[in-house]
Amino acid sequence: MAGKLYFAAFVVAQVVVMTTSQNPPQATTKISAPTDAPVPVLTADNIKTVLDVHNEARRLENAKDMPELKWNADLAVRAQNWTDACKFAHQPPRVRRWGENIAAVGNTRPIPSQLTAMINEWIAEKKFNTGGTFEECCSFRASDCCHYTQVVWSRTTHVGCGYTVCPTLAYGSGSLTDIAFLACYYTPSGNSPIVTYDWKPFAQGTPNPVPPA
Ligand SMILES: *[C@@H]1O[C@H](CO)[C@@H](O)[C@H](O)[C@H]1NC(C)=O
Repeated sequence: MAGKLYFAAFVVAQVVVMTTSQNPPQATTKISAPTDAPVPVLTADNIKTVLDVHNEARRLENAKDMPELKWNADLAVRAQNWTDACKFAHQPPRVRRWGENIAAVGNTRPIPSQLTAMINEWIAEKKFNTGGTFEECCSFRASDCCHYTQVVWSRTTHVGCGYTVCPTLAYGSGSLTDIAFLACYYTPSGNSPIVTYDWKPFAQGTPNPVPPA
């Protein structure tokens, strides 16, 4: 749980996409902006892309009580401060009070398609939920779908992301050149048992009723 590193690597259309997700033991909704604020890179249109891709995945679950994610500018500033450092890693657990998904992709396409590709890598982990309960792919035992469960965590209400094109992205003991680096921060954080031991991202089996025509 806390301190456990979730990591996956992907190759998509000969472009490296890497993602990792790691989350703190507690949820919080009060996150202030850093005082040494960096300049945001994502435009209003980019932010709409990020929200739309997340919220489409959330809608497709047709779950009860799963609100659309809204943008949190303070989280975005914190995420931007992190991606600007161009180190493919999570913030230390003692610092982090949010859910954190990170991804990187070769800087070969326009920003909107890069953003969509990276977030879709997290969403593609849905395929590992073969048993339908998410416990075999994101729990104390497994971490194959923990980016996805953060995306569709029903108690998460806000996201803020940072995006940096890194001339050099430090990655383990090596580095990658000309890479787009995305970090999305979520609050309240997902993938954490909040009250009881419960890794299900949302209430299942009780979809929203179809609204009357
Ligand atoms: C922002 O990034 C700088 C440089 O990496 C770091 O020293 C500082 O602590 C960061 N601020 C926050 C609030 O994370």
